[in-house]
Amino acid sequence: MKKIWLIGASEGIGRAVARELGKNVDNSLILSARNEERLLDLSSELEASSIICPLDVGDSQSVEDCWKEIVNKKTTIDTIIYCAGYYAPMTAENIDVAQIEKMINVNLVGAVRVLSQAVPEFIGKKSGHIVLISSIAGYRGLPNDTGYGSSKSGLIHLAENLNCDLSEYGIKVQLISPGFVRTRLTDLNNFRMPSLMSTEQAAKHIVKAIESKHFEVRFPFLFANCLKLLSLLPYSVYFWLMRKIRARLK
Ligand SMILES: NC(=O)c1ccc[n+]([C@@H]2O[C@H](COP(=O)([O-])OP(=O)(O)OC[C@H]3O[C@@H](n4cnc5c(N)ncnc54)[C@H](OP(=O)(O)O)[C@@H]3O)[C@@H](O)[C@H]2O)c1
Repeated sequence: MKKIWLIGASEGIGRAVARELGKNVDNSLILSARNEERLLDLSSELEASSIICPLDVGDSQSVEDCWKEIVNKKTTIDTIIYCAGYYAPMTAENIDVAQIEKMINVNLVGAVRVLSQAVPEFIGKKSGHIVLISSIAGYRGLPNDTGYGSSKSGLIHLAENLNCDLSEYGIKVQLISPGFVRTRLTDLNNFRMPSLMSTEQAAKHIVKAIESKHFEVRFPFLFANCLKLLSLLPYSVYFWLMRKIRARLK
C-alpha cells in the first residue's frame, strides 16, 4: 500500500488528483488543505482509504501540528504531493505587496515548511517521493504575471536543489509543470487561455507523471513545450515577443 500525503486537496487540481488516486484501493491518502469540510466531503467519496489532516501551509505551527498528527498515527509517508497554491493576476504597474507575499508564502515557502518536516524521515529511511506542482509560468518572466511567476520559478529551483541533494538517499524528486487548467484561480484571468484543460484531464497527466521516471513532466504537450522552447531564446528576441503578447492581452 502506498501512503500519499496530498497538500492542496480540497479544491481544483489537487481535488481531482485525489479522486484519480482514490480510484486505486492500493493507495492510502492523507488529504490536507485549510477547508476541513471540503476535505471530509472528498474523503467520503473515495474508494481508497483516506484520512484528513487540515493545515495552513502559510503557518509553520499549523504544518508542524499536522505532521505530529501524522507521526502519532504511526503513518509512514511514501509520497508527498505539494499542490497548494495561490494566484492573483498582477501587472508591474499595480504591484500589490501583500498579494505577492501571499503567493510566495503559499506557493514556495509553504512547500519548504512541509518538506522541512518530512525530509528528515525520508533521509532516515533512505526512500521517499516528493512531487512539486509548479507551472510553466515559472520558466521565464511573462507579461501580467508579477509575483506568481516568481513564486513558481522559485519552486522549480527548489525542486532542482532537492534533486541534487536527495537523490543519493534514494529519494525521488519530481517537478510537474501544468499549463492552463480551469479552476477558481484561472477563473480570475480575463484573457483567452490557450489549451485550457479540465481538472480531470490535468489529474490524469499528474498521476501518470508521478509513476514515470522523469524529473520534470510538463503538459499539455504542444503548449508547454512551446513555452519551454521560448525560454531558451536570447533575451532580445524573447522580450520583443513578450511585448507583442502583452499588447494583445490589453
Ligand atoms: N489552474 C492552473 O491553470 C494551474 C496551472 C499551473 C499550475 N497550477 C498550480 O496548481 C496548484 C493547484 O492550483 P488550482 O488551480 O487547483 O487552485 P485551487 O483550485 O485554488 O486549489 C488550490 C488548493 O490549495 C489549497 N491552499 C491554498 N492556500 C492554502 C494554505 N494557505 N494552506 C493550505 N492549503 C492551501 C486550497 O485549499 P484551501 O483553500 O481549502 O486551503 C486548494 O485545495 C497550485 O500550485 C497552482 O499554482 C495551476
